[in-house]
Amino acid sequence: METIIRKIDFETEYDEILSEAAGIIRKGGLVAFPTETVYGLGADGLNADACKNIYVAKGRPSDNPLILHISDTDQLKMIVKEIPEKAKILMENFWPGPLTIIFKKLPCVPDSVTGGLDTVAVRFPSNILANKLIAAAGTPVAAPSANSSGRPSPTRASHVEADLNGRIDMLIDGGNCEVGVESTIVDITGEVPCLLRPGGITYEMLENVLGGVEIDKAVLKTLDKDERPKAPGMKYKHYSPDAEVVLVKGEKDAVVSKINSLIEENKAEGLSCGVMAAADTVKLYKCDFSVDLGERNDLKEIAANLFDALREFDDKAIDIVYSEVFETNGEGLAVMNRLNKAAGFKYIEA
Ligand code: TXA
Ligand code: MG
Repeated sequence: METIIRKIDFETEYDEILSEAAGIIRKGGLVAFPTETVYGLGADGLNADACKNIYVAKGRPSDNPLILHISDTDQLKMIVKEIPEKAKILMENFWPGPLTIIFKKLPCVPDSVTGGLDTVAVRFPSNILANKLIAAAGTPVAAPSANSSGRPSPTRASHVEADLNGRIDMLIDGGNCEVGVESTIVDITGEVPCLLRPGGITYEMLENVLGGVEIDKAVLKTLDKDERPKAPGMKYKHYSPDAEVVLVKGEKDAVVSKINSLIEENKAEGLSCGVMAAADTVKLYKCDFSVDLGERNDLKEIAANLFDALREFDDKAIDIVYSEVFETNGEGLAVMNRLNKAAGFKYIEA
């Protein structure tokens, strides 16, 4: 199939592009669109067959459920059984925005969205194009990240094009995504709220409005064989470029010399090496290609640059990528969760 690609020029009227896209969604087609976190691959969330096609286009395992995106809180009542008090607090504080909440679902939500679970993940994005598209489609829009399964999530239209061109009906190019990591996921269906995936709404922000919040074990460590993460998607190796990613921990100077000596060994074996580092150290590495993720203390900036950086190493055909590690406060928890997953939770101590 040919993918229609439409670039949004915010200076001129773009409603026509959004109604074209909404028409495709209503007819059961697939449209990639920008959100404030990453690009999503949208389909009519109440059309079971359309949702099945999302899995085919992405090559995604069918037990990994999708998020339903809404454009106003009234739409929530169409898809969830109840809105617990804790959910109301989260909605008031963080919607619209990069937060996904897990609810008990109503029967109208197809199994192809929830992977057969009795819960459904719901998000109300703040991105204006996403919001207008969902409103124009007039239905909750099921949308995973618009990457091929296993690849880093797309934060630019060019990333979507690289992965899905020819496999989807339309791509709306609305520029770069500002948060750059996928939404925070919180499960409030149990006794204590549980953070399943860290993102732009930080653990500290959640604690602040909810009181006690647990962090799912799968966020910062690999699970034992018999353990299961509460967000089924968290069990898959993810975000990985083709290169092997290795995290190097320790004091700053020690990390620089450790990585440089590893690079020297790798080069002797004929391997090409890349480094992901903060602005203050990135120039100290003797590698083939390095990416400056941003100021070490600006974890928001590092999060926004992360997925594009991971993709750049593939474009440069790098064999091994060494990465510095970052603090896990604020957006740093999301950064380290994605880096750990890209590295398969392996790291070297400097
Ligand atoms: O920022 C985002 O959330 C982006 C944009 C497009 O909105 N979407 C996104 O979707 O990241 P996806 O499919 O890549 O990730 C959805 C995650 C998966 O880890 C999945 O397992 C989890 O949400 N999930 C979905 N439904 C769930 C449920 N009922 N219970 C627990 N986890 C669920
Ligand atoms: Mg994804």
